[in-house]
Amino acid sequence: MKKISWGIVGLGSIAHDFVKDLLLLENTLIAAVASRTLDKAEQFAEKYGVKKAYGSYTELFQDPTVDIVYIATPHHAHAELSIEAMDEGKHVLCEKPLAVNAKQVKKVIAAAQRNRVFMMEAFWSRFNPAIRRALALIGQGEIGMVNYINADFSFAIQPSPENRTLNMDLAGGSLMDMGVYPCFLSYVILGKPTQILATGRFHETGADLQTAAIFKYENAIANMMSGFISQSDMVAKIYGTKGRIFLPFIWHEAQGITIVRGNGNEAKSEKIDLPTNGKGFTHEIEECLFCLHNNRLESTLWTHQNSLDLVGITDEIRRQISLKYPFE
Ligand SMILES: NC(=O)c1ccc[n+]([C@@H]2O[C@H](COP(=O)([O-])OP(=O)(O)OC[C@H]3O[C@@H](n4cnc5c(N)ncnc54)[C@H](OP(=O)(O)O)[C@@H]3O)[C@@H](O)[C@H]2O)c1
Repeated sequence: MKKISWGIVGLGSIAHDFVKDLLLLENTLIAAVASRTLDKAEQFAEKYGVKKAYGSYTELFQDPTVDIVYIATPHHAHAELSIEAMDEGKHVLCEKPLAVNAKQVKKVIAAAQRNRVFMMEAFWSRFNPAIRRALALIGQGEIGMVNYINADFSFAIQPSPENRTLNMDLAGGSLMDMGVYPCFLSYVILGKPTQILATGRFHETGADLQTAAIFKYENAIANMMSGFISQSDMVAKIYGTKGRIFLPFIWHEAQGITIVRGNGNEAKSEKIDLPTNGKGFTHEIEECLFCLHNNRLESTLWTHQNSLDLVGITDEIRRQISLKYPFE
């Protein structure tokens, strides 16, 4: 089987984690890495034994030995860089959020279709074995009809305007950084909500420090919360008419699940271990490899429409809490 060769763009913290996982897999190689500064690219390349290092992203997009580009920059640049890479004929795996609003996501999808290349938002949780098992058990009716979800994702960071997480020019804020995960969980289980009620608290930069929303569905309610100023349990709770599923700390990269079948004193709890390979990026990488080897332009597990639906949810939350980025 042909080895798929990767190009890595934006050599920050997640690029290191991703590359460590990529190196665990066979049938892949890292052809090149690119940073805005050549020195940094060379250091990164040396650390991971990569032959080519570029001091600009464009050079990597134009490298004919690169099949697929992983984009790991801050949010504001995702759409523009994904489109540039695809216009150079590259397949793209772009970190979440694929883009900051639905208008941008549509442009990214149009570029994928125009260039007939594979493109996927790097929503790694969709490929996490524990989350996949939870979805399968729910699909099999093991906990009955799901009618409530509670998912939080909050860390205590040192809020500083220099930090990318609070920088409005980089589309910072807790919702787009972490809140997308609880929104994702409700979406993959219950679909698009019929109504959203959202509220937020803000840093002086204008970025949201805390965001909470209630999603209403015809037969269910979901609660999401994201934040930067306290650590939350980061346990996702999914309640159904016949039982419950818990995704343990840190739920979006869970290493197993607990399922409680039945209610009241009759309930029986089962803990299922489902460890990830590496940190867990391997699973989304394997999906990319599967799609590329099978000439698929999008994943069936996390489709272009899924990315568009998800950004529709964050757009509505942002509209309600008046969170607008300067470049929008
Ligand atoms: N899947 C996950 O679990 C996970 C976890 C954390 C973050 N993420 C996502 O991954 C992306 C990157 O997050 P990160 O934590 O790795 O961020 P980070 O450490 O700040 O790194 C981002 C990199 O982007 C590049 N960049 C390009 N334009 C930039 C600009 N104007 N300002 C600052 N950096 C710029 C820089 O690389 P060069 O200097 O090399 O050009 C920088 O090192 C975000 O989309 C984030 O939401 C995902």
